[in-house]
Amino acid sequence: MLKPLLAWCLGLSIIVASTQAVAEITIIPKPQQIEAGEGSYQLDAKTGIDAPEGARAAEIAFFLRQAIHAQTGIELSRSPHAHGIELAIDPTVKGEEAYRLVVTPRGVIIQASSDKGLFWGVQTLRQLLPLQRASAVQVPAVHIEDAPAFGYRGFMLDVGRHFYPVSFIKKQLDLLSYYKINTFHWHLTEDQGWRIQIHRYPKLTEVGAWRTEADGSRYGGYYTQNEIREVVEYARARNITVIPEIEMPGHSVAALASYPEFSCTQQPLSVPITWGVFKDIYCVGNPNTFTFLQHVLDETMALFPSPYVHIGGDETPKDRWKACGACQALMREQGLKDEEGLQSYFIKRMQSYVAGKGKTLIGWDEILEGGADKHAIIEIWRGDDEARKALANGNRVIVAGPFYLDAPLDVLTVKKIYGTDITGRTSDSAAPEDEAVFHQHRAQILGGEAPLWSERANPFNAESKMYPRLLALAENLWTGTHDDAAYADFEHRLQAHYHWLDAQKVAYGPEDKPVVTYTVTHDASGKGWQLHAKRGFDDLKSHYTVNGAEPTVHSPSFDTEVGIAKAGTIQVVPFRKGLRYDNAVRFTLVDNIASGHAISFSHSPSKDYAPGDVLIDGVMGGSDFHDGRWAAWHDEDLDATIDLQKETAIHSIEVAFLFEPASRILLPEQVTYAVSSDGQHWTSLYNDTVSVDFASAGRHHVFRFHSDKPVTARYVRIQGTQCKTVPADFSNGAKDIWLFVDELVIH
Ligand code: ACM
Ligand code: ZN
Repeated sequence: MLKPLLAWCLGLSIIVASTQAVAEITIIPKPQQIEAGEGSYQLDAKTGIDAPEGARAAEIAFFLRQAIHAQTGIELSRSPHAHGIELAIDPTVKGEEAYRLVVTPRGVIIQASSDKGLFWGVQTLRQLLPLQRASAVQVPAVHIEDAPAFGYRGFMLDVGRHFYPVSFIKKQLDLLSYYKINTFHWHLTEDQGWRIQIHRYPKLTEVGAWRTEADGSRYGGYYTQNEIREVVEYARARNITVIPEIEMPGHSVAALASYPEFSCTQQPLSVPITWGVFKDIYCVGNPNTFTFLQHVLDETMALFPSPYVHIGGDETPKDRWKACGACQALMREQGLKDEEGLQSYFIKRMQSYVAGKGKTLIGWDEILEGGADKHAIIEIWRGDDEARKALANGNRVIVAGPFYLDAPLDVLTVKKIYGTDITGRTSDSAAPEDEAVFHQHRAQILGGEAPLWSERANPFNAESKMYPRLLALAENLWTGTHDDAAYADFEHRLQAHYHWLDAQKVAYGPEDKPVVTYTVTHDASGKGWQLHAKRGFDDLKSHYTVNGAEPTVHSPSFDTEVGIAKAGTIQVVPFRKGLRYDNAVRFTLVDNIASGHAISFSHSPSKDYAPGDVLIDGVMGGSDFHDGRWAAWHDEDLDATIDLQKETAIHSIEVAFLFEPASRILLPEQVTYAVSSDGQHWTSLYNDTVSVDFASAGRHHVFRFHSDKPVTARYVRIQGTQCKTVPADFSNGAKDIWLFVDELVIH
């Protein structure tokens, strides 16, 4: 009597134990077909892998073995008699990236018609393993038939504006591959930095890879050809194709700083430290430019087995070509109507060169205007109109515009990425008739790509911009499904992936909020400032210093606010789960007797930037004029009056204006300071007429009044008039000019 009962109880407990250990199935991207089975397969040290013939299959088996060990600690058996996981080539599984994965209590079978599919099957199997170190784990029984909706699923990283070390890129390749993103578009050259070693032109990296920042520090870096091979190989092993981008003819100032002979003016240039679109581009009228670019492409193509080469082609101002004798001569010789024709000539010539090497050219959507033929692949960034034109022209397209990861997290949310259907209009601005064009040419839509431009991205904050948004992109492009029910299901599975991302030490961001926003307010009591953190995560900690040192995880920290007693430089860095989330944000705090008083303007500052009271809050502007600490006037004068509310001794007045001609921010033409006791009768203290050498002016210009003997007054008036004398090559002349001011400092 007792025996069967005991056996039954033991059996039950084994079932309970094993079902408890079976993880919920939460695969991202969601497989096309998935059917849960009964029970689970126990994976342990007795499990072995059978792989088909071939080096790649052996490599995939080795990858799986290592991944299982890294995640669970289980070392699979190497005995030829050990079985359990079978990888097999099966031509009936249709599609280059398709695979079948079947788990039963007897074992795991992954079948595909190619190595590509086998590898994705392995990535799916990894997602079925529990995140648990154990001597045995349960793999849930399941039958999966899977294939992607789109063949091109990409991520682009701009390593020009900020440099990312090889270790960072490898970590991202691991993550991209885990989510079946199959293309890494490596944006290797920019105005602000050239990052690929080219043996024939050493100055590209000796000069072009480095810039001198506003504070005098040197910033830069580049990848040696060996490092590039290493990255390409690392990606290949993970089913990822790396596409190099060498930008031309614009966004090339770093190259022209290295070799000014390929610019129209042939004048020395420095590697820029501001963002924007620059006028200096390659001289198309100089035949040596083509020789140079072809040599660069030769060395590049030798490093990248990818069938594609990206040549940029976006944002190319034609000012230099208009003024260049050689470019104008070429235009006449070729019978071209205008400089757009020259762009067209340039792109066609590069396309034919690349085609001659057996490669397909990719460019941003401007290359279509530039005359690329229908064999070029067009990367769409400016909108649906461009997509429609490219599709109607017969070009294949990659849709990137809706997936710009440099967009703030609360603007381009995880949900928005998930919900964007690239086979139709991606914004309301496109014409309804576009829809028909998209459907008719569906086969030309290769897929999508999320670019991370790096003006404001760096190795510390990039992951918060990439994840979890790239998981939404991965599923969008893999499943081609976007409805609310699919999103709700994704959201549920995403929760399990946060544990995985934590285990991989990924500093991922919130789904629809900024990571953190820091502000400083002046304490109304006149005793110092408050540093505030508006947080996207409740467990985010901010570590700060007041002594100029870089904050670390050991520096004092706060959750939402902290008092700062004294003027000086504050630096603050967000951390979460021990991971650093950004570069330090700096606040320069100054004592200002205007703080806490009233300021009024004859013209209100632009609503696009900070409100006028930031000018007397004792907080100076930072390096980014969008940081909420700079007030701005657009085609208007600064005319501010501060009421100190009682007669006050004044020793000095200092105002710093920003100078960033690439962003149309110029210094004022005239600056005056005046004081008054009644607000009616004014005494002038200072009057400076500025004559600026546009070529050599620094980023700031400070206008300083000082008197050892104090002046006594209640009202202070500060005026700066718009610059009417603009650089000779400014388009629109003296229209569309900005004045930027951070603080009106009165002592
Ligand atoms: C681009 O964003 N300029 C392609
Ligand atoms: Zn030229």
